[in-house]
Amino acid sequence: LDNGLMRTPPMGWLAWERFRCNTDCERDPKNCISENLFTDMADRLAEDGWRELGYVYITIDDCWASMQRDEQGRLQADPKRFPRGIHRLSRYMHDRGLKLGIYGDMGTHTCGGYPGTPLDKIEVDAQTFADWEVDMLKFDGCYSNTAEQEQGYPRMSKALNATGRPIGYSCSWPAYQGGLPPQVNYGLLAKICNLWRNYADIQDSWDSVLKIVDWFFDNQEVLIAAAGPGGWNDPDMLIIGDFGLSMEQSRSQMALWAIMAAPLFMSNDLRTISSGARSILQNKMAISINQDPLGLQGRRILKEKSGIEVFWRPLSNDASALLFFSRRNDMPYRYQTSLSKLNYTTGIYKVNDVFSGKSVTLKDSSNFVVSVNPTGVVMWYISAPAKPRPLPHQFSRGG
Ligand code: DGJ
Repeated sequence: LDNGLMRTPPMGWLAWERFRCNTDCERDPKNCISENLFTDMADRLAEDGWRELGYVYITIDDCWASMQRDEQGRLQADPKRFPRGIHRLSRYMHDRGLKLGIYGDMGTHTCGGYPGTPLDKIEVDAQTFADWEVDMLKFDGCYSNTAEQEQGYPRMSKALNATGRPIGYSCSWPAYQGGLPPQVNYGLLAKICNLWRNYADIQDSWDSVLKIVDWFFDNQEVLIAAAGPGGWNDPDMLIIGDFGLSMEQSRSQMALWAIMAAPLFMSNDLRTISSGARSILQNKMAISINQDPLGLQGRRILKEKSGIEVFWRPLSNDASALLFFSRRNDMPYRYQTSLSKLNYTTGIYKVNDVFSGKSVTLKDSSNFVVSVNPTGVVMWYISAPAKPRPLPHQFSRGG
């Protein structure tokens, strides 16, 4: 969507995967969906080095609303859990250099059973979000049918635009259409949304990450063509820092999301996150690959019988990212290859290892070995090749 927003994949924090629809503030005040949860996370984003790295969107998901609209038919926040209202919350974010995202649902109800946005409420709700100075809307699709969605998603895009406030627009539409053409029209999506959920919800498990990764790369031709500055495929939240992933698997999720040019919305508890998980999420080179200004989504280029998969993403300044991913479950695998086998042209390349911080120089034709841990990755940032030096005159043939 050409609204000037999200020219690189958005980054930030999103409540759903970690905190779900926990509304029990009496018994679980620290973890329930309430303004305190969002101000706590905002404090962490602002004070623990996240904001400076680009993690600026903090997004409320389902279960924030009151069961009743107000007398004017507008959505309102649950008065017990958000006593100061959403507008106060967005000011809290803006005061700290952050942005606030909110959640709505095209249909009679949200997936969690809260008031939805049927067709005739789209303009009112867009205006309410703009009045609250919200910066992003995640628009879900429970309790609406195909025909309603077909009208509703473009109509919300128009309505947001008509408010005059720049509001990033995340569409869950394709996830409800099965994620693929001919049901999904990716050309249209890229015109009306800044990002879109293509596939099933992520859960806190490695198995869930693998299912998502396989679906996205099995369908890469369709998806790569849809993505670019202002419009991104969204494989769902980062679960790094939660309970389901090992450190290896956490690096794998970070690396694969960087290759996919995916939004980096963490869903974790930033108040208690381990230093290991934090350093993966704060890895500057992984983030810069994710945020590359060309905005070309990367692809899987090899699936070896050994269980090693190789991914590649072209980056600006003739640089690129290479990723070696092990689907094995036994022991570190020594994978031998060369850059020319991976379609690199003749030249000498400077290679930076994203997670070890080491760098080496590699000739296109030299064989090398990478040791890839089970369920883990080795990720490289590769600079533009140094031009091979021309031969001195007396050695060149026929010169
Ligand atoms: C389905 C979405 O895909 C999830 O990300 C989350 O927003 C839930 N609905 C909320 O009910």
